[in-house]
Amino acid sequence: MPKSKIAGIGKYVPERVVTNEELKQYMDTSDEWIQERTGIQERRYAHRTNETTTTMAVEASKIAIQNAGLTPTDIDFIVFATLSPDYYFPGCGVLLQREMGMREIGALDIRNQCSGFVYAISVADQFIKSGMYKNILVVGSEKHSFGLDFSTRGRNVSVIFGDGAGAVVLQATDEPNRGILSTHLHSDGASAEILAMYNPGTHANKWGHYANFADATIGEMFMSHDMIDSAQNFPYMDGPAVFKKAVVKFPEVIMEALQANGLKPSDINMLIPHQANLRISQFVQHQLGLSDQQVYNNIQKYGNTTAASVPIALCEAWEQGKIKEGDLVCLAAFGSGFTWASALLHW
Ligand code: COA
Repeated sequence: MPKSKIAGIGKYVPERVVTNEELKQYMDTSDEWIQERTGIQERRYAHRTNETTTTMAVEASKIAIQNAGLTPTDIDFIVFATLSPDYYFPGCGVLLQREMGMREIGALDIRNQCSGFVYAISVADQFIKSGMYKNILVVGSEKHSFGLDFSTRGRNVSVIFGDGAGAVVLQATDEPNRGILSTHLHSDGASAEILAMYNPGTHANKWGHYANFADATIGEMFMSHDMIDSAQNFPYMDGPAVFKKAVVKFPEVIMEALQANGLKPSDINMLIPHQANLRISQFVQHQLGLSDQQVYNNIQKYGNTTAASVPIALCEAWEQGKIKEGDLVCLAAFGSGFTWASALLHW
């Protein structure tokens, strides 16, 4: 049975740097508050009209494909993770296929928010192990800056998120000591509403935190003026509750991956945690007894880029020579759903 290795990797972050200081123009916040609670110093925002989730994905994918020594027509399948798609439907996978001039290959969008990229890797790995495909483009891309509440009302969410994209080419390999060892996926929908964007949606306030829409007229449920006027088109997050769950599930899913392969934390050469919050990453590092050299963080520069955070961090760690051939790399993520996941691989 073939295994899957990362044959090429690429990232793209928009040019525009947005500092904590700049955010003070829009809301009541401070550099001190943001850095102390999250570690974030700045983030990138895509160009409002010229850049989209798909165009950023195209840039990251071009590099990943070139890096793998391939051309876009060599790709057999696309798995695209995002929570901020160009359109409500169709998904970004088909837009990427079109923009890159690929063959009429399958394109699948994954909606697992912060753990989207690790879920996407797991899905692609199964297609490769089954022998169905040889080269799969796996992408995580987000344009958060287009859908955040930049007033003081939305400050607990808007200061955290940033834009960017990362991509890998997952390729079939028979090389020993190379490629994905295992992936581990989990969910618990009991707290689905504490980190969510309810609208547009079909819930008609069945689950949401907001006003009752029982009196809405036909057609209004999906997205009404009322919803927009009362800021119900923005993400909602109970930050402290997310934090508490994340610090339990991150170490748990990393240990699950290690134990499944008879390994221990000291065997990890590089842990790439989803960049949710520097405090969460530091807590996980401490729990597992990992050194600073074993964990890569870049949330300070990019904020939380959700599905793009793991591939951007993985790419940057590799570019800086912090990941070498044969290294044991662990990817781990936790986020809205809740969903959480890990992947263990030899680089
Ligand atoms: N600037 C200044 N003050 C802010 C603020 C901001 N950007 N955002 C919230 N505050 C205020 C709150 O209004 C609150 O004020 P109050 O005490 O007067 O009511 C105070 O800061 C504390 O808010 P709280 O939400 O309890 O802060 P916190 O210490 O939990 O930090 C998060 C907030 C969001 C940084 C933190 O909970 C977190 O990171 N959670 C995990 C989120 C996450 O990882 N999400 C991604 C999903 S993977």
